[in-house]
Amino acid sequence: MKATVNTALRLNGIRVRTAPPRWKLPCANTECSLHQLSPYIGKIKSSIAADLIERYSEPGDLVVDPFAGAGTIPFEAAIRGRRALAADISSYARILAQAKLAPPPSLDAALVLAETALDEAALLPAPDLNEVPAWVREFYHPRTLSEALNFATVCRRPGNEFLMACFLGILHHQRPGFLSYPSSHLVPYLRNRQFPRQDFPEMYAYRELKPRLLAKVRRSYKRFATPTKRAVLPFRQTAVEILTLPRQFGALITSPPYMNALDYGRDNRLRLWFIAPNLANNVDNDVTQRRQAFVNALSSLATKAERGLKPKGYCVYVVGEAIKRTFDGHPSNVVVTIMHQQAPSLRLKTVMADQIPDVRRTRRECKGVKTEHVLVFQRS
Ligand SMILES: C[S@@+](CC[C@H](N)C(=O)[O-])C[C@H]1O[C@@H](n2cnc3c(N)ncnc32)[C@H](O)[C@@H]1O
Repeated sequence: MKATVNTALRLNGIRVRTAPPRWKLPCANTECSLHQLSPYIGKIKSSIAADLIERYSEPGDLVVDPFAGAGTIPFEAAIRGRRALAADISSYARILAQAKLAPPPSLDAALVLAETALDEAALLPAPDLNEVPAWVREFYHPRTLSEALNFATVCRRPGNEFLMACFLGILHHQRPGFLSYPSSHLVPYLRNRQFPRQDFPEMYAYRELKPRLLAKVRRSYKRFATPTKRAVLPFRQTAVEILTLPRQFGALITSPPYMNALDYGRDNRLRLWFIAPNLANNVDNDVTQRRQAFVNALSSLATKAERGLKPKGYCVYVVGEAIKRTFDGHPSNVVVTIMHQQAPSLRLKTVMADQIPDVRRTRRECKGVKTEHVLVFQRS
């Protein structure tokens, strides 16, 4: 028997409203191009993040996002006169969020940084490709891989997160501006059946890093905005369970991991390998895998919200709804139950449902996340 999505029109007595129609409008050509540094699974649309920030926080508020991912919510908060605190367990999230929240101040400065790093990388000794795992090697022409390995070495130095983010953003895809053999962009799969080497030899040729990286840097500054330094608190790479939050904050706006539906470690495996090649199976977290881990993480967060949210402040969760037979509780219901138990001074005020169109879904053919619920709690 197939599991069904909870389509009830009420959640905990609150009528489920349809999300504002403007959330459906595309924003790829209007948002700040730093949002497009590199793809991130489960990333919230920047226009939705902006809307939630405008509605549920005030200028000057500290907005906290403990599952910050690519930093979409903290970035939109910080350019809207709020202060932002971003945290996430993932090293890939750390790089994207730091790149976005503290990029070089101008395109010229970014190009100088990139040229200097490319020069430094060119001076490093040639890497031993035999030390690279076969599953990584199969994505690249050997010369491209040598350049990529040395450039990643330079990018791993603290302060080079923006360059690392640009590099990760061109790591795999089939378009000419990318470094790999033909493969998908979001999740790394070779497309050598679709593009056999004998029929598409140009797709398997050497791809020089430098012009591609510089073009990527330029693209990142197409629509540029940057938060002031004062607006951004240092990124915390940590599990939410051990995250310490400031004594008081104005709003908590976050999208928790999609329980059961997405596997961040597997889906980001190539990028994670370049970030930390020595950490094989550099897996981000196990929250997305197991219900109990999700419950633990959300319980810990609820306690922190109960303790630190300012009076009348909002706590907003954008909860992905996973359809999975093995999971016996709807994620929104789970979040509401946890909040009821751990954060009794916060009341559920609004519930919105947003259907995710296929184009925004990660794996289109699979049974993945289909709707998101936005749960808005307010401190009494
Ligand atoms: C739905 S994504 C957030 C996406 C983000 N809003 C964005 O726009 O990119 C959920 C995030 O939770 C993080 N995560 C999973 N388990 C965690 C934990 N225990 N503590 C902190 N972060 C965790 C994942 O690494 C992932 O980045």
